[in-house]
Amino acid sequence: MKTITSVSDFRRELQVHKVQNQSIGFVPTMGALHEGHFSLIKAAKQMNDIVVLSIFVNPLQFGAGEDYDSYPRELTKDKIQADELGVDIIFAPTVQDIYPRSMYSKIRVEKGVQVLCGKNRPGHFDGVATVVLKLFHIVEPDRAYFGLKDAQQVAVIQNMVFDFNVPVEIIACETIREDDGLAVSSRNINLTKEERMQAPLLYKCLQQTKQKLEAGNRASVVLKDEMKSYFLTHTDASIDYCEIVTFPELKHQDEVSGQILIAAALQFSNARLIDNIIVHVK
Ligand code: PAJ
Repeated sequence: MKTITSVSDFRRELQVHKVQNQSIGFVPTMGALHEGHFSLIKAAKQMNDIVVLSIFVNPLQFGAGEDYDSYPRELTKDKIQADELGVDIIFAPTVQDIYPRSMYSKIRVEKGVQVLCGKNRPGHFDGVATVVLKLFHIVEPDRAYFGLKDAQQVAVIQNMVFDFNVPVEIIACETIREDDGLAVSSRNINLTKEERMQAPLLYKCLQQTKQKLEAGNRASVVLKDEMKSYFLTHTDASIDYCEIVTFPELKHQDEVSGQILIAAALQFSNARLIDNIIVHVK
């Protein structure tokens, strides 16, 4: 496995594989790798000749007061795990390399960001889309792998790829969970012992809502209110959002039908947790 830290070195290495017509699977991450990331790497490994893993904590997608400075950086450990999983190239550029000057042009995501995580994180998805487009141009992957844990991110990237005719196939992968249902996240370590016990209720509530939908309850406002009161009664977290929207359009419906995203975000004392389920409602 090679670790490459500059764009120019990466491009040189890429040519070696391109001339051999090797397919490239790309897994963009911010590092501090866990089971969720591993599942994307494994999926990429199965479908491509070469797997590129990027590790870059992207300052552009963190708002003021968010955890950019304290975001875990564990490159030495990440390298060992990536190597074991068969990653061919780690691309771990510096901020200076990705943003050598203040940008003259940026991506602004117009649609699908007024809800869910976009609502309270203005500019977040602009930052995500900008860095992912840059990484796509540097890595030139055939396929890129994203986790449905961040379903809105998947929607934003799919829409961007469509809008800008980016020649890459986006593969959305299932959310990986702990045994008790809690979605694996690098932020879970910031939960207190008490909060860690409450955290699986996030997924439990999403499942209950799914069952209600399947049983014929379709009124989104009622279902969302029930989710909110469940969290208020059963956890100490404050509610960032409870949403039921179409996927991937992320649009509200009074009476829901079609492919539906049930999603919630809870703010615990030191960790913001998000989770979702996608369900097909006939
Ligand atoms: P990061 O949070 O490191 O996540 C990298 C990828 O891992 C994302 O596609 C995310 O959805 C996926 N992932 C995280 N937890 C998961 C889980 N429990 N199950 C399945 N997949 C999971 O998302 C980002 O980085 C950044 O926004 C990035 C796309 C790299 C752009 O900077």
